[in-house]
Amino acid sequence: MTIDRFRTEFSMLPKFFKDKHKAIQTTYKIESFSFLNDPKILMMKDYPHHGDVSCYVHCERVARYSYFVSKWLKLDHQSVLNGAILHDYYLYDRYKNSPGLHGLKHSKIALFKATEDFDLNIIEKDIIRTHMFPLTPTIPKYKESLVVLCVDKVVATLEYLKG
Ligand SMILES: [Fe+2]
Ligand SMILES: [Fe+2]
Repeated sequence: MTIDRFRTEFSMLPKFFKDKHKAIQTTYKIESFSFLNDPKILMMKDYPHHGDVSCYVHCERVARYSYFVSKWLKLDHQSVLNGAILHDYYLYDRYKNSPGLHGLKHSKIALFKATEDFDLNIIEKDIIRTHMFPLTPTIPKYKESLVVLCVDKVVATLEYLKG
């Protein structure tokens, strides 16, 4: 490869990433729309998660970033999207009506409520069940679960710092 050709291809890289980012943004909006507007999912707006941030806003953020990562890594992005939206579907006010030990218990409660209300595949269930690892001793079995677990930690930390 000549230097000139290398320069031309290198200068195309930012455009490639921008275009790919835009394309993923569009598919995210299309694929998440109906689930994010499901009345059961909208119930998460009533429950605070990190300070002023509702469960809904938190789960949407985790879903959006996890979706992007899973698209780039060519993982099962549909399961990542569904699992991430539901990962904190515990549906109670953790500051007023927590069953106690919220950090340890809520992933199990979220999984129980999510499986009652939605048909979930094995990856989506694993995402919800293991998202609090290593606080809970449930080791993720799938790459998709690892993506949501990591994105959740970053998003939660930023929400705590901002709040
Ligand atoms: Fe959680
Ligand atoms: Fe979370």
